[in-house]
Amino acid sequence: MSENKLPGEFPVRSVPLGPALPEEMQREYQRIRSVYAAAIREINSRLETLDDEFQMKHRHNPIHHIQSRVKTLPSIAKKLRSLGIPPSITAAKKELHDIAGVRVVCCYVDDIYRVANLLLSQDDISLIEEKDYIKQPKENGYRSLHIVVDVPVYMSQGKLFIPVEIQIRTVAMDFWAALEHGIRYKASDEVPAFIGDELRACADVIARTDDKMQEIFKALQLLHDSEDEFRE
Ligand code: GTP
Ligand code: MG
Repeated sequence: MSENKLPGEFPVRSVPLGPALPEEMQREYQRIRSVYAAAIREINSRLETLDDEFQMKHRHNPIHHIQSRVKTLPSIAKKLRSLGIPPSITAAKKELHDIAGVRVVCCYVDDIYRVANLLLSQDDISLIEEKDYIKQPKENGYRSLHIVVDVPVYMSQGKLFIPVEIQIRTVAMDFWAALEHGIRYKASDEVPAFIGDELRACADVIARTDDKMQEIFKALQLLHDSEDEFRE
């Protein structure tokens, strides 16, 4: 398998190329890309292990699926320019926390915090930043838990700590985010207020459905547990 290939790479929209980027920068990008890809593989492997163990212990997989990507060079340059910083790999490494991105799509809301806490309890992983858009959804209705962690990666020159942005959300939150992103992208400008209101209303319905599904699942688990006790 190629060193840069990632399983479940999420679709990346192409970014207009903007001014041509120096060849040296493109070569440097290829070098750091493989380091960020290694950091993603490390996180993915830890998440899969946690998911498997949880399944063994509790007969439930908290993770529905995982997607990941390394930010493309045009997208890095675009983001740096939007921050008023001339694009360079040095600036990207210093200023951007989302060059490596992992999206963890969970079954239920409780699973989101379960997965985040299990990962953060590993003693070589450190939390750099946390934004809880579930406890405090964004104005437009967006919900997800975002954490940025530093993860150790062993390269030939030694151990490097690489930041990875992890977005953790339910299948339902992911459904809303994917469609909202598409709609916003299609509108290219600001979406009209009435569409914004409708999207927000859909996000609220989805949040209530997530709570309901969580309750159903908990009730079913209690039922199974009491059946197990009866058999023992
Ligand atoms: P950037 O890192 O520059 O994006 O700004 P930030 O640090 O304020 O972003 P934040 O951590 O809030 O969000 C980072 C990523 O979360 C985005 O690149 C999207 O993938 C996702 N995201 C954030 N807000 C929204 C939203 O309103 N809708 C959708 N669909 N995705 C969002
Ligand atoms: Mg960010």
